[in-house]
Amino acid sequence: MDISSAAQQVGSSFFDFDKLALLSVPVVAITAYFTYSKSTNKSKSKSSSSSEKSKLHDALTDYKPQERPFGFWKPNYTYKTPTPPPYPNWDLKTTLPIPYRAFRHKYVVTMGIRKMEPDSWIELDNDWEYFHALKLKRIEERKEKCWALNALCVTAGWEVLEELCNYLPARYPSMFKFENRVMEILPTGETFDLTDPKLNPIVAAAKLIQDDIVLMVEKEDGHYYLEGGCSTLPGFWRLGEKAGLKLDDIHTTSGVPQYEKQLKTGMNKLFRRIDVDSPVVRNNYFIQTDNHLDWSPAIGDEDEGEIGWKKAKEASDISEVFFRSERQCLKRLPISGVLVFTVRTYFIPITELVKEDYVPRRLLDGLNSWTDDIRQYKGFHTFEKVLLPYLEEKAKEQEARGLDYGKEPKDFPYFQ
Ligand code: HEM
Ligand SMILES: *[C@@H]1O[C@H](CO)[C@@H](O)[C@H](O)[C@H]1NC(C)=O
Repeated sequence: MDISSAAQQVGSSFFDFDKLALLSVPVVAITAYFTYSKSTNKSKSKSSSSSEKSKLHDALTDYKPQERPFGFWKPNYTYKTPTPPPYPNWDLKTTLPIPYRAFRHKYVVTMGIRKMEPDSWIELDNDWEYFHALKLKRIEERKEKCWALNALCVTAGWEVLEELCNYLPARYPSMFKFENRVMEILPTGETFDLTDPKLNPIVAAAKLIQDDIVLMVEKEDGHYYLEGGCSTLPGFWRLGEKAGLKLDDIHTTSGVPQYEKQLKTGMNKLFRRIDVDSPVVRNNYFIQTDNHLDWSPAIGDEDEGEIGWKKAKEASDISEVFFRSERQCLKRLPISGVLVFTVRTYFIPITELVKEDYVPRRLLDGLNSWTDDIRQYKGFHTFEKVLLPYLEEKAKEQEARGLDYGKEPKDFPYFQ
């Protein structure tokens, strides 16, 4: 359907949550009607040639992915997200975070995407309780600063919640139950009634998982815009500043190094190309000089003024230095056609990380290979004096006891 004109019908970009459920019904109804009329009036609509109807015809056509007109998406009702098997031996108290160690001996700016196994979409572990409590506190304190849901992606907000209500109880059966349209988090007893018109779907979705969520909508210019999301643990960026921006501007306004040259073209192509059955995943890392998972105060206030590393003070002790790494997944929702970007942060003290074989040397090499632009972007000066010598010392300790680099894990993101 024509997503942009649906927004015009709604009239404003942000609106009252009480109306959400009501509005989402017409959007779904229009969508269903398009699909229905396609199957019943095929010959009739094909024979019509009036130009004002051409957009409707576009929406009724089964396009090859690369020929799909910008901003159009025909709901794919045949595709059903596969139900995942239970995560092996998953337990809220004992399942450890997956040890992604997503740094190489040499740092390069790259999209670094890999195909994602649909079963592995959302990863939960024994940090869930900590993440969940922090998310609740942040949502309570920050309210609408945590989330956005423009008219363009109200349906997508409900759709992502629905996807999670189907995925999570199958993947983590000891954790969730979805019955009679009510999602329950079993260990906490929290419930989310999907028939409740006051339910904020994107906030509810974010409360279930450890990830933050961003919704990206393709418009008629072919670009992807941030039109919704729930961002409670961003670390270094502000949702309010990015809402409404297109992918390129989201990145250039954050000063992502080499964006124009290394990332822009590939990323825009990738976004267009992602289909319901071809999700992708990527991992990144940052060094942080405080232990705040939610917002790093080192770069400035979360709500006011400029943020950046320039004014950030230098760490004086290794205990202040943390490794922050995100696992980011990108997948297409079948009905709305909106892209869901989930960001799961893994966060550990450097003093823990260095206990793992190969890690100190590889991280040190990686940091030493940062070019000046990367150094500036990632706040190198705030940790170099304490972190670099510390890593060198730990690497030497490992080497002194005979660590064999021939046996270092080869595959990014290097699970230990
Ligand atoms: C879809 C929604 C996305 C949003 C809202 C988003 C947003 C951002 C933001 C705010 C930053 C700056 C973060 C910081 O400095 O703390 C950033 C960095 C970056 N983004 Fe994105 N991004 C998205 C998707 C992607 C994708 C799919 C890719 C690659 C295919 C990508 C590649 C990068 C890279 C390379 C950086 C530099 C830091 C890093 O290595 O992660 N982004 N992004
Ligand atoms: C729905 O998605 C599946 C998987 O990508 C694809 O094979 C099928 O052709 C799609 N159906 C329509 C109507 O686009």
